[in-house]
Formats: sequence, C-alpha cells, structure tokens
Amino acid sequence: MPDQLQLFTVFKYIHTTTVLLTIIGFTIRGIWMMRGSPLLDTRASRTFPHVNDTVLLISAVSAAALSGQYPFINIWLTAKVLGLLAYILLGAVALTYGPTRGIRISAYAGALLSFAYVVHVALTKNPFIF
Ligand code: HEM
Repeated sequence: MPDQLQLFTVFKYIHTTTVLLTIIGFTIRGIWMMRGSPLLDTRASRTFPHVNDTVLLISAVSAAALSGQYPFINIWLTAKVLGLLAYILLGAVALTYGPTRGIRISAYAGALLSFAYVVHVALTKNPFIF
C-alpha cells in the first residue's frame, strides 16, 4: 500500500502535469482569440479546460492535505489561491466576456502574469516577488 509521501508525490505529478496542460491550452486559445478564430468556440476548446482545471484542483487539494499545508494557514498557498482566482477572472474576460479586442488582449496579458506569479510562488513558497 502506498504511503503518504508516495501519494503526495503522485498528486504533485498530476498537479504539475495539469499545470503544464493549462498553460499550453491557454496559450493556444489566446492565439485563436487574437486571430478571431472560430476554433475558440468549438466544443473541445470549451470542454477540455474545465476537465483539466477540475483535475488540477483535485490534485492541488489532495497534495495540500497530504502534506499538511493549507490555504489561509500557509501564506504561500493563500497567495496561490488568490493568484489562481485572478487568472480565472482575467482568463474569462480574455476568452469570453471582454467586450472589445483591446480589453480581451489586456486581460489575456494579465492572466499570463497571474499564472507566472502562481508558478513563482509554487517554486519559491514565497508570496513576494522580490
Ligand atoms: C494556476 C494555478 C496553479 C499553478 C500554476 C500551480 C503550480 C504549481 C507548481 C509548478 C508546483 C510544483 C512546485 C515544485 O516542483 O516544487 C505546485 C505544487 C503544489 N501546489 Fe500548485 N499550482 C496552482 C494551484 C494550486 C492551488 C489552488 C493549490 C492549493 C489549494 C496548490 C497546491 C500545491 C501544493 C500543495 C503543491 C506541492 C508543494 C510542495 O512541494 O510542498 N496549487 N503547484
């Protein structure tokens, strides 16, 4: 039977794999958005991110629980959750709700910065940039 550390490692691998898939998918959909491509509205383009995000969050919560680190207790995890919320909101404006191309592209840039911030916090376990 796998011990707690092995399970944590498995969830962390799943988590980082879905993180990678998230940024690859978001980059592709961003290019489609900027080109005004109809591919952005296909069923696969709308469904896959939800499936991937669900696995990302389940693996994140599992890794957090197995390592005894929790948002609102460990400040770096709180920063990750807030960064994730910013990424989700800006991403929704960029790919769905932005009323003009300028707003969509600005929101897209903001979402990429939020994502980079979350990765920085994940790697350093430090919510501060400097
Ligand atoms: C856009 C959202 C997210 C990104 C880009 C992200 C990124 C990452 C990355 C790159 C790692 C691997 C760090 C390493 O190799 O040491 C990691 C680990 C981890 N993440 Fe996330 N993450 C996100 C969301 C979350 C959320 C919302 C939570 C918590 C509820 C979370 C909890 C964790 C935990 C517990 C680890 C393992 C940390 C450790 O090694 O002790 N992540 N994350």
